[in-house]
Amino acid sequence: MKRSLFATTCLAATVMIPLFAWIAVMRPAPAAQPEGARAGSSSPADPVTRGKYLVTVAGCNDCHTPWKMGPAGPEPEMSRMLSGHPQDMELPAPPQLPAGPWLVTVAGTNTAWAGPWGVSFTANLTADPETGLGRWTLRNFVDTIRTGRHMGRGRPILPPMPIPMYKHFTDEDLHAIYSYLRTIPVVNNRVPEPLPPR
Ligand code: HEC
Repeated sequence: MKRSLFATTCLAATVMIPLFAWIAVMRPAPAAQPEGARAGSSSPADPVTRGKYLVTVAGCNDCHTPWKMGPAGPEPEMSRMLSGHPQDMELPAPPQLPAGPWLVTVAGTNTAWAGPWGVSFTANLTADPETGLGRWTLRNFVDTIRTGRHMGRGRPILPPMPIPMYKHFTDEDLHAIYSYLRTIPVVNNRVPEPLPPR
């Protein structure tokens, strides 16, 4: 006996609807996104939130926040967030350059780096007008990251500041990072000038 088209359609629907519902339920939920992350340009976060996210995942705290030894190993001292190499830290002259392939000596704070370029000290990125980026315009900030020179025209920014990677940030990203850096607690901390190679 031939089933009518109507009956076949009804049967198919009875099977398919619960199947689709089951697939929908079983599909893993998307992982929670950190604040400021976004999948596409269609859902822009506000620049400060986005900047906080970018600063966090791009690792600015790895070098611009002094690290200290904590109970579970080295950790960034967030009360001095992004304030650069501590001015009160007494540092002896760096050791001789290590025998290759070793190249770099770094202080336990991660803020002073000795290598073939001399000794570099990480900058104070807080908005302190005397010792940080307080007087910097967005233009100064973008020019520095894009050209790898202080404010786009001064001396070259030394390693290990990741200019070769960061110069690829979009204008929107750099605006977001700059906006966020203006909202973090201001720390007055004068970072020393770099030392020339010996
Ligand atoms: C691997 C270590 C490292 C990381 C990561 C890092 N920096 Fe740096 N940064 C440095 C060092 C060292 C200097 C100082 C270089 C010098 O004195 O020439 C510096 C300098 C700078 C300067 C220049 C300041 C000036 O006065 O010219 C800016 C701006 C800056 N960093 C921003 C950032 C931002 C924003 C991030 C994260 C997106 C970041 N840095 C991540 C090491 C780092």
